[in-house]
Amino acid sequence: MDVKEVERLIKISREHPLMPETYIPWELEPGTGDIFLPEMLTSLYGLEIYDTLTPAQKLELGRHELVQVIASYAWGECLFCLFMTRHILTLPLDNIEHRFLLRELIEEFRHQEMFGQAIAKLGGSPIKQTGLHKFFSNFSNKYLPADYLFMGSVSIELVTDVYGTFARRSADIYPVLKKMFDLHNIEEGRHILFTKNLLKDYAAKAGYVKRTLYSYVIMFNILFVRTMYVKREIYERIGLEDPDNAYKLASINFKKKFAETCLNDITKFVASWGGFNRLTRWAWRRVLGAKV
Ligand SMILES: [Fe+2]
Ligand SMILES: [Fe+2]
Repeated sequence: MDVKEVERLIKISREHPLMPETYIPWELEPGTGDIFLPEMLTSLYGLEIYDTLTPAQKLELGRHELVQVIASYAWGECLFCLFMTRHILTLPLDNIEHRFLLRELIEEFRHQEMFGQAIAKLGGSPIKQTGLHKFFSNFSNKYLPADYLFMGSVSIELVTDVYGTFARRSADIYPVLKKMFDLHNIEEGRHILFTKNLLKDYAAKAGYVKRTLYSYVIMFNILFVRTMYVKREIYERIGLEDPDNAYKLASINFKKKFAETCLNDITKFVASWGGFNRLTRWAWRRVLGAKV
């Protein structure tokens, strides 16, 4: 990646840090009419069952699911910090990548604290990751080479960025959350720019097999994110009569919605280095419902 460009990114990060402590109006309580997650991103929106919910239940659904979104976000970033901490040890301190990643680490740690604070502010109680989630994340974090982990991380950043964009555009989102997503969107924009450029070099050197593997790593990372949101327990919490049935319907509904709204940027990225081929395309269609 162009050294001058990375220097520029480092400079912005240093000179214009966005501190969650002061950037976010934490003292504001949710007002009447404030929502926590744009309706269309909630798992039940679009289903008949959604129209049977009371306004209070809709609000609660958004609150619980938003908490789940940011808790998963924080967890993913924490994992990425673990990996980056190990990765920068392999690079000399004056290396440009090392220097940028230090800035990124500083920002990511601030984000995690910010997410935690937002969850506390919302009185949320995130549902823990499943054993499978934990196993795969620990496994990949320990054993996958750096380029694969960067592929995974940029896919998560691109996909979750969509949530932030929707939340920021929504007029009645609780202002604390709006500012939180603003902050995150600005800083993640730099991370994405850096990582995408870094990966361009890796992808340019990769042959057919490696591109196929990259594509699978990305696909599984996205599946991983998607399955952390729709939770049976949330339907119980908002008092649905048949949470099992709601879970079944929501899983199908959310897969479709997620494919329609969240996969655009990432599929463009994967297509840009030829990550869709005969071995990968069918899996993206089947597992993620992606139109590739
Ligand atoms: Fe972040
Ligand atoms: Fe990031």
